[in-house]
Amino acid sequence: MIPQNITATKVVQMKNNPTAASNKLKETEIYKKLHSLLLAREAQVGVIGLGYVGLPLSMAFAKAGYHVTGFDNNPQKVESLMEGKSYIQDVPTSEVEQYVRSQYFSAYSEFTKLNDCDVIVVCVPTPLSKAKDPDVSFIMAAVEKIEQHSRPGQLIILESTTYPGTTREILLPQLEKSGEIRNNGKAYECGRDFFLAFSPERVDPGNPKFNVINTPKVVGGVTDACGELAAVFYSQVMERVIRVSSPESAEMVKLLENTFRSVNIGLVNEVAIMCEKLKIDCWEVIEAASSKPFGFMAFYPGPGLGGHCIPIDPSYLSWKLRSLNYTARFIELAVAINSSMPAFCVDKVALALNEDQKSVKGSKVLILGVAYKRDIDDLRESPALDMIHLLQARGAKVDYHDPYIPRIHWDGLDMESVTWSDQIGSKYDVVVITTDHAKVDYAKVLKSSVRVVDTRNALKDFRDERITKL
Ligand SMILES: NC(=O)c1ccc[n+]([C@@H]2O[C@H](COP(=O)([O-])OP(=O)(O)OC[C@H]3O[C@@H](n4cnc5c(N)ncnc54)[C@H](O)[C@@H]3O)[C@@H](O)[C@H]2O)c1
Repeated sequence: MIPQNITATKVVQMKNNPTAASNKLKETEIYKKLHSLLLAREAQVGVIGLGYVGLPLSMAFAKAGYHVTGFDNNPQKVESLMEGKSYIQDVPTSEVEQYVRSQYFSAYSEFTKLNDCDVIVVCVPTPLSKAKDPDVSFIMAAVEKIEQHSRPGQLIILESTTYPGTTREILLPQLEKSGEIRNNGKAYECGRDFFLAFSPERVDPGNPKFNVINTPKVVGGVTDACGELAAVFYSQVMERVIRVSSPESAEMVKLLENTFRSVNIGLVNEVAIMCEKLKIDCWEVIEAASSKPFGFMAFYPGPGLGGHCIPIDPSYLSWKLRSLNYTARFIELAVAINSSMPAFCVDKVALALNEDQKSVKGSKVLILGVAYKRDIDDLRESPALDMIHLLQARGAKVDYHDPYIPRIHWDGLDMESVTWSDQIGSKYDVVVITTDHAKVDYAKVLKSSVRVVDTRNALKDFRDERITKL
């Protein structure tokens, strides 16, 4: 069952200086038993939260020969998986079917089997509340389940993106306390009775090149023994594991990565706004700047940020800093610029309609692409939804087409994708390209349209006065 294609993993250890006392904790029976179960791939793996992150992770460990039990509080998802069907685009149904049939993977919506698990990985959502503060209630609910079904000798790893300090401040005390119920009133000790680490998930849905296995995995344990066991666990499956000195560092790594993207997208969105005022084509500028072989990395403007990560994660960091009386200025500025982009693009639609002496009110608008990025079926935080709301508020009659999303029943919208035809643009006053899916024939869109607003440079090969670019 162990696949041949998993190569020897390189664990890179950064700044870990184990002391004699911490080395001693690696001589305990509990540690040695878990260590050998992990190496022999006999450890029972539990994954809480079977979404975009948890399901591919479960499949990767099942493929490596571990028995994986998935837990999700959505019974429909569990039912679908147990029928061998995937609901995640990057996970083929054939894979789920294979591991369910061979009993390397099973899924449950109740949590008693957590007690059987040697390793438990938490992959639950970490959204923002209405007030844009971190909502860690899903993490707390998952930890409560672990606490109810814990036993000594388990390795718990949090993968959900969150602010630095979450693992130590939320998970650690709760897991220590679970000993009071099962350990004659004596709290469990982390690094001796159980092991705790944070490891950020870096999955990029729809990326054909990088997946769970070939994307390096960062881990930070609460103690040296925790970090080492987590590194051993991941190194059975991932090609490269990077060990950092603490869960806080590992939590911060993820936030740095996503803040880096948010700030650079904010910068390039502002460049697009500046270029409009200067009457310069921002796409041409970015393309030419990209010819510099060092010191420049291309980011592209668009109608705004989408997905479960980039629009949300930096706010986890700025919230944490606010509690320390510090304003994370780059983050706040990027959030302000990026969230102004849907309105900026709607103004472009109004300008395009003006060319034909039409108002937004009463015009028929086709939104082309509602997924938050190309070639995926994920609507979460999609700026196209904001644009639909803004256009409707101005009186436009809005339809959409997306080859990956047949229906939107989300965010107060209930719409069906109009059917593709080679004349798709002909029924509309303006077509707005909001997601540049590769399978859409943009030449046909342009040919059939009166006006096109292109927020993604999908029509870069065409020169036509009907096109309004971002
Ligand atoms: N989607 C991405 O591209 C991506 C990339 C990197 C990191 N992340 C992070 O990973 C985490 C999970 O994201 P996701 O995209 O997989 O979310 P998701 O919504 O796709 O999946 C989460 C799953 O957890 C389940 N769930 C919620 N509460 C639960 C509970 N208490 N017990 C059991 N199951 C529960 C939900 O039903 C859902 O199936 C988030 O913190 C996110 O920021 C996501």
